Amino acid sequence: MPGKTFARVAAFASFVLTSSLLFAQQRPATLTIHADQPVSTVSPTLYGLMTEEINYSYDGGLYAEMVRNRTFYSDWSGTPYWYLYENGNAAAKIGLDKTTGPSDALSASLRLDVEQADAKNQAGVQNVGYWGFALRPNTVYKGSFYAKAGSTDLGPVTISIVSDDTAKAITTATVSAIGTEWRQYEFTLKTGAIEPSSKNHLDLSIGHAGTLWLQLVSLFPPTYHDRVNGNRVDLMEKLAAMHPNFLRFPGGNYLEGDTIADRFDWKKTIGPLVDRPTHPSPWFYHSDDGMGLLEFLEWCEDLKMNPVLAVYAGYSLRGEHVKAGHDLEPYIQDALDEIEYVTGGPDTKWGAERVKDGHPAPFKLTYVEIGNEDWLDRSGSYEERCPPFYKAIKAKYPELQLIITAPVKGLKPDVLDEHFYVRATDNFHDATHYDPPAPDSGAPNWNGGRYNKADRNGPKIFVGEWATREGFPTPDFGAALGDAAWMTGLERNSDIVVMAAYAPLLVRVDPGGMQWETDLIGYNATKSYGSPAYYAQVLFAQYLGDHTLGSKLEGAGPKLFYSITGNTAKKKLYLKLVNASTDPQPVQIDLEGAKLASTAKLVSLHAHDARETNSIDAPSHIVPVETQLQGVGAQFHHTVPGLSIEVMEFDEQ
Ligand code: AHR
Repeated sequence: MPGKTFARVAAFASFVLTSSLLFAQQRPATLTIHADQPVSTVSPTLYGLMTEEINYSYDGGLYAEMVRNRTFYSDWSGTPYWYLYENGNAAAKIGLDKTTGPSDALSASLRLDVEQADAKNQAGVQNVGYWGFALRPNTVYKGSFYAKAGSTDLGPVTISIVSDDTAKAITTATVSAIGTEWRQYEFTLKTGAIEPSSKNHLDLSIGHAGTLWLQLVSLFPPTYHDRVNGNRVDLMEKLAAMHPNFLRFPGGNYLEGDTIADRFDWKKTIGPLVDRPTHPSPWFYHSDDGMGLLEFLEWCEDLKMNPVLAVYAGYSLRGEHVKAGHDLEPYIQDALDEIEYVTGGPDTKWGAERVKDGHPAPFKLTYVEIGNEDWLDRSGSYEERCPPFYKAIKAKYPELQLIITAPVKGLKPDVLDEHFYVRATDNFHDATHYDPPAPDSGAPNWNGGRYNKADRNGPKIFVGEWATREGFPTPDFGAALGDAAWMTGLERNSDIVVMAAYAPLLVRVDPGGMQWETDLIGYNATKSYGSPAYYAQVLFAQYLGDHTLGSKLEGAGPKLFYSITGNTAKKKLYLKLVNASTDPQPVQIDLEGAKLASTAKLVSLHAHDARETNSIDAPSHIVPVETQLQGVGAQFHHTVPGLSIEVMEFDEQ
């Protein structure tokens, strides 16, 4: 019967398929490691951070300021995030006053005209914060504002954080009397035994008729290392756990701005906050510039990172560029001044400025990057803009390593910055991207273009931005696998790939908080979490060797990736195994040339499905799990579960 025949054929086919699958699953791969054969160096600077103002990374993110639009930039809608507040019978109006402000940089202010108010019927302004004001129990919040009054009888200003749900003040402070000249007033808000919540807003009010002008209204929670004007503690801790060697700043597109006028103009980001004019960022919101050049450097100091300073090179995103020659000279001078601000002694003009800003010690600087993604400049002007920057910086600071962002004819730079935003499958196929070409393969060498199957005679490489873009708002486990596969290639080729940084790093997960997916670390006002890709970064950076070892992998499926490195001083070997297949992969490990302790540390990151992820409400769904491997020796077996990233740490005896 045809039906039965079909069933028999189907059963046989299924048997053949199943047994061949079983065979594929059960057949172990062999990984031979020659622990006594160092192959190439691994750069100690390999893993670091890339950062810019995007996705509310600083304002509403790392930079701990709680007041949104503290300097009252205005648009078609008025003064965003600020509202008039009239309690009971109070009557008042607010508006932007462009005629008065506390400084040349902040020459406008918010004007509050109160027609009628008393102690019980107050009038004032409300700020909604960055998706609320997060309050924790028993915490001190430090606030300040600049103000002046129309007359001396205005009475006290009351500052409260008020619950959105109950309209009741949770904490209140008063500033007793406001003078008729601009000056700064400080206050402190303290919480008691409250439930943590961010469903709150800020009220600033008076109980007397009259006029009050306000500018730079600020409120900070406790910050990392208690820095004044500092950073959010939870986010800094997450970044510290990544063991970052460097911080590339201030961008990215944020360096360039949409227009030349909107670039990161560093001289406008230093000194007292009241002297910083603030500026629009290319990522569709206004930057308060609390995170200015010195704050970036102090962030480096706090996390012991080397600054990788990107200087503006005369190109902005909408296509404007500065013509090489006379027009470019002030920009080159600006870059030299910026380097002097970072590294100069008190006897230099800009070093002295840094001392005045509160940081007497110069910062160590090794890398300076000239521009960002200048291959996007369709006019091709980088060919003319880059060399004069390069020459001028090298002439004054020959010890600096200079990074360029696109190939320039006739210039072999110290370092070339390359960016990769890809899918996981791209990384599986391209994990060998920087491997040397096989001898006589005819593969292209460095020829002033991109590396591919690189020889070792070109510039060093900085993979200044890269990510597997899968997952929203943060990467899922499939993306983490793509990242990990790619990082095995970076480690293997770290004799030329001296630095690499995932981007973007941070994302505000509230509605409207994200301008670019996929991003490594997510947060709202009260909580933050690391994506699976974040934990892959943590593992790769934590277990970084200083040289690669001779090795050979045979018989593995196409989605098994590995990196084997050694750390001479610590007498450790690190084996990273990435199994992006859903099938377990048995591996026989032959370890020659070293005597190892019989146990090893195994750290695993694993999911049952590539789409699994972490989120603000499930922050620890996928996290590294540490166990002990027993029976380690010259030959041992290990099965890497499907969808796993594993690190083995061996002790050499
Ligand atoms: O990381 C997001 C953006 O991607 C960066 O600002 C830019 O350099 C790149 O195109």
